[in-house]
Amino acid sequence: MNAIRLATPADAADIAAMSRDEIERGLPWSWTEHRVLGAIRHPDTNVAVIRDQGALVGFGIMAYRQEAAHLLLFSVHPSHRRKGVGTGLLRWLEVVAVTAGIERIVVECRRDNAAARNFYAESGYHEMAISKGYYGRSPGFTGHAEDAIRLEKWLHESPG
Ligand SMILES: CC(C)(COP(=O)(O)OP(=O)(O)OC[C@H]1O[C@@H](n2cnc3c(N)ncnc32)[C@H](O)[C@@H]1OP(=O)(O)O)[C@@H](O)C(=O)NCCC(=O)NCCS
Repeated sequence: MNAIRLATPADAADIAAMSRDEIERGLPWSWTEHRVLGAIRHPDTNVAVIRDQGALVGFGIMAYRQEAAHLLLFSVHPSHRRKGVGTGLLRWLEVVAVTAGIERIVVECRRDNAAARNFYAESGYHEMAISKGYYGRSPGFTGHAEDAIRLEKWLHESPG
């Protein structure tokens, strides 16, 4: 497995495909290659990736704002789950946030995503609120809008 690194434009298509298949399934595909490219090029956003023999193993997209960072998108390929890859990627993004002087990270995940809720809880995130119908609000979407759980982590509470 390669080291975690910042994404380049060449990673965008694989990231978008993984978002469509592993995160946005059943919802309109919003993280297209074009949008991922925008995140890679955005000065206040980091897109971290990890690859193995050329294949995308996982990625995380974090937007660093003044008082909080927002983890926008995060996934590990099914073939590489439960091996600590997600924990490593999240730590990498958190270290950047600490270095930038950011105190808090916020993230949303689907309410029925038990794996992600457990993963974030294990990583020190606290569940703060339910956002009803958060996923699937895009115009023209006629499918089932899903609730989100909003989580946050205060970085100074759990150094390292
Ligand atoms: C959530 C996700 C990122 C976890 O990635 P991962 O690389 O498997 O996570 P790790 O191996 O670092 O797991 C760390 C801990 O989180 C918890 N965890 C991870 N996956 C879990 C699962 N499926 N069920 C229960 N707990 C889980 C466990 O406590 C795990 O430790 P353990 O394996 O020693 O028991 C991955 O399952 C994923 O990509 N899911 C699909 C996309 C998604 O839901 N993204 C997040 C919302 S945007």
